[in-house]
Amino acid sequence: MKYLALAVLAGTLAFGVARAQDNARTGPTAPELQEGKAIYAHWCAPCHAAVPSLAGTSSLAIKYQGTDIPAALEDRTDLSAPVIGVFVRNGVAWMPPFRPTEISDGQLAALSAYLTAPLEDRGAHAELLAEEMVRKAAEARAQAGGDQ
Ligand code: HEC
Repeated sequence: MKYLALAVLAGTLAFGVARAQDNARTGPTAPELQEGKAIYAHWCAPCHAAVPSLAGTSSLAIKYQGTDIPAALEDRTDLSAPVIGVFVRNGVAWMPPFRPTEISDGQLAALSAYLTAPLEDRGAHAELLAEEMVRKAAEARAQAGGDQ
């Protein structure tokens, strides 16, 4: 039953991933941005990745309709560290505030550095949970096959 639920979840997320890949970026991430990218992937991408149905992305698509500001946070070039800090520490709408025990001040600085870096330095979009699950399942299958 647990596996069925996981399969349904993976299928639902994979649909979103397929849509996200429409505007996928490619290339490596600058080494100094990798910590911030991992923090973004863990705490922010579940609501803000380039998948139109996500809570943050769909809200921001409405907020910025008719402008050239992208709905996905990872594609924005207009954010600054102070603005990111205010939203992360206070939350907005149904975005929760994040405490320093969840995201430390140092991690917030790394996260802000990632979200304000030139797009070419950010590299490919952060891996989403569904993509990670698909990758790990394939790795596990390859491992099981290799052991036979
Ligand atoms: C539970 C979902 C959720 C999570 C998790 C989340 N957000 Fe949000 N975020 C939202 C929503 C919803 C909005 C409000 C959109 C609006 O104003 O209509 C928002 C708004 C924002 C804004 C304001 C953007 C603007 O132009 O108005 C920033 C910046 C932001 N989030 C950053 C982050 C960062 C960084 C993280 C990770 C630490 C994060 N969010 C995690 C849902 C989320």
